[in-house]
Amino acid sequence: MEERKTLYSAIQPTNNLTIGNLIGAIKNWTNLQNGYDCFFAIANMHAITVRQVPAELRQKTLNMLALYLACGIDPEKCVMYVQSHVPAHAELCWVLNTLTYVGEMERMTQFKDKSARHAENINMGLMDYPVLMAADILLYQTDVVPVGLDQRQHVEIARDIAQRFNNAFSPTFKIPEALYMKVGAKINDLLDPSKKMSKSAENPNGSVFLSDDRDTVIRKFRRAVTDSGLEIKYDPENKAGVSNLLSIYSAFTGKTISEAEADFAGRGYGEFKLAVGETVADRLAPIQKEQARLLAEKDYLDGVLRSGAERASKAANRTLSKVYKKIGFFQL
Ligand code: TYM
Repeated sequence: MEERKTLYSAIQPTNNLTIGNLIGAIKNWTNLQNGYDCFFAIANMHAITVRQVPAELRQKTLNMLALYLACGIDPEKCVMYVQSHVPAHAELCWVLNTLTYVGEMERMTQFKDKSARHAENINMGLMDYPVLMAADILLYQTDVVPVGLDQRQHVEIARDIAQRFNNAFSPTFKIPEALYMKVGAKINDLLDPSKKMSKSAENPNGSVFLSDDRDTVIRKFRRAVTDSGLEIKYDPENKAGVSNLLSIYSAFTGKTISEAEADFAGRGYGEFKLAVGETVADRLAPIQKEQARLLAEKDYLDGVLRSGAERASKAANRTLSKVYKKIGFFQL
């Protein structure tokens, strides 16, 4: 039998997740889980590179697990775990730090953005963020990393670091490939469709959060910026707003972009925005309900995380032990 490929991805348990995270990440995972050996982490170590309220971080970690499950990720098929439960992440990160240059980290787009936004707290963790992410991916001998386009540079640097290690010592890490979805790899802000929809946008009306209730979702879509002109056509260059709404509609309905266009042929922008809003609200409601139900099942969630940590540690320690041997760490 052909060996199954390994897939790895993670989300930070910070703020409110947006439909960008849902479309760009979790929804794809549920489709991919049948074809790969999957590891899905809750990246709490990445999260603390920006100051968090401890009690909230703890709660958001559980919320995230409940969300993974509510979206249909199956704990029988996939390993779901909390990053800090597997110490190998921090350990490999340290080794990889010694193969990473300060200059290349300073040039990372996300580091520059976050340094500007958190000028009072440009900590070493913020700068080291991509190396920890490389450690995440490389520990599992990952073949594919499904992410949104904003993570492209991070996956590239993980590949570079892996190659560097393999060249300096001997082949140890598999070189991972990023996997971007054709539709939904970048969901944009509803009020400024030139920017990605973000958990931390200045104006929360441009982002649709997974926790938003039906009225809020519909109100945000009603106010979404469209473009001059009348046609509902996918043309990201000239019609960024309309194209973004078509991508969202297509991702939530499973229809292709041309099917989505056909659904709205001859209709006005007002009607279009309302229909997209209603579609999103309809699809979010059952996820929210299931997430709330699961959050009441503390023992069950605990069990999923315990088993996840065990399975992840086993895989991660296999790689870490190879790494330690190759770099010359004396082993007992
Ligand atoms: P994070 O938590 O910012 O986002 C999680 C995932 O959601 C995707 N995403 C989007 N996709 C489309 N449109 C958007 N507007 C949008 N916003 C977010 C992100 O691309 C990502 O796939 N560093 C990572 C977490 C991480 C990770 C990893 C990912 C830690 N270790 C290892 C992959 C592999 C992050 O901050 O994602």
